[in-house]
Amino acid sequence: MYDVKKIREDFPILQREVYKKPLVYLDNAATTQKPLCVLDAMREEYLNVNANVHRGVHYLSQQATDLHEAARETVRAFINARKIEEVVFTRGTTEAINLVAQTFCESQMKAGDEVLVTDMEHHSNIVPWQLQAKKMGIVVKHLPIDDKGCLVSCHDVATYITERTKLISIAHVSNVLGTINPVKDIIKLAHERGIPVLVDGAQSAPHMKIDVQDLDCDFLAFSGHKMYGPTGIGVLYGKEEWLEKLPPYQGGGEMIDKVSWEKTTFERLPFKFEAGTPDYVATHGLATAIKYMESLGMENIEAHEQELTRYCMEQMRTIPNMRLFGEAPHKDAVVSFLVGDIHHLDMGTLLDRLGIAVRTGHHCAHPLMDRLGVTGTVRASFALYNTKEEIDALVAGIRRVSAMF
Ligand SMILES: Cc1ncc(COP(=O)(O)O)c(C=O)c1O
Repeated sequence: MYDVKKIREDFPILQREVYKKPLVYLDNAATTQKPLCVLDAMREEYLNVNANVHRGVHYLSQQATDLHEAARETVRAFINARKIEEVVFTRGTTEAINLVAQTFCESQMKAGDEVLVTDMEHHSNIVPWQLQAKKMGIVVKHLPIDDKGCLVSCHDVATYITERTKLISIAHVSNVLGTINPVKDIIKLAHERGIPVLVDGAQSAPHMKIDVQDLDCDFLAFSGHKMYGPTGIGVLYGKEEWLEKLPPYQGGGEMIDKVSWEKTTFERLPFKFEAGTPDYVATHGLATAIKYMESLGMENIEAHEQELTRYCMEQMRTIPNMRLFGEAPHKDAVVSFLVGDIHHLDMGTLLDRLGIAVRTGHHCAHPLMDRLGVTGTVRASFALYNTKEEIDALVAGIRRVSAMF
């Protein structure tokens, strides 16, 4: 049984008060809280194991290397990648997408070639492509969304693909709308036309089982801190054949085979993309977070969060003048809203005074805000430890704030 009360004991921060009110933490799409096992694992490594990885012949270095590489295997199994060579550690989703944008555009694209994203992307899946557009003359195109926050149908997606489309890069789940995009269908359609697909999994990896072989995606990016792991660590999954084709991203130690003044050769995968000392304590922390999620069961987490989302949407609809953004039939863990003409910042600030932590603003998605015709929204986002009582507190809080205006 999924015992949320017991689960909350693993997250001491959830017991604290703010402004003498119990904390209701609903900003999980920005970052999640960390369970004790993750903090303990990282403390233990710094206390007893710490040494730089891959280089040392001494005991501690080998032990730290073993933990670091075991973390890679944990990630591989978590997303069902074929090989550990396909798991590249990055600083997060943002760095993973920048890595692909830079190396893919440089090696696989010419001026006038197109990359296709969507109207609901986070800036980290827009700006890296725009930087390449400026540098290389590639073109960034975007798929539109309907008023419920869904992508146009797959049939219509096909109409946006041209002979010049060289890559499709899409969010699995929107961080503003919560829409779960039909990435598997889009990947199939893209592959029929020989186009690889990058999936931004920042908002899906924490909430659902991802199987990269089943999806058949060419790249997947996600961040540790959004899935109960530490900050500063993330993952780029890439199919081996693609990673082999791409040039290195950054130069330095760890990523080379042999360096000379005449010619430098590079390490094998995945090290070719991991220049410099990796955050080996964070990789161990991430692996511990993944094991924690797996011990609860990804299906159970998904079912719990789906129920929270359904319940929250239902309750929100009872509030007068409520405007909900994102009403896709397949939606996950994110509820964005405005009430009447109350500014999102005012709503967020007053909810905060009631102990309720939500996010306000553009959520790093300016083009989506433009599409929705707003400057920002209030966003409540859920994690495995949230409860229906917390949603009741949110709804009561919104009613109270609304009454003040
Ligand atoms: C959909 C999506 N993509 C990318 C990112 C960027 O993640 P990070 O800042 O961890 O690199 C976020 C963060 O909110 C996100 O929600």
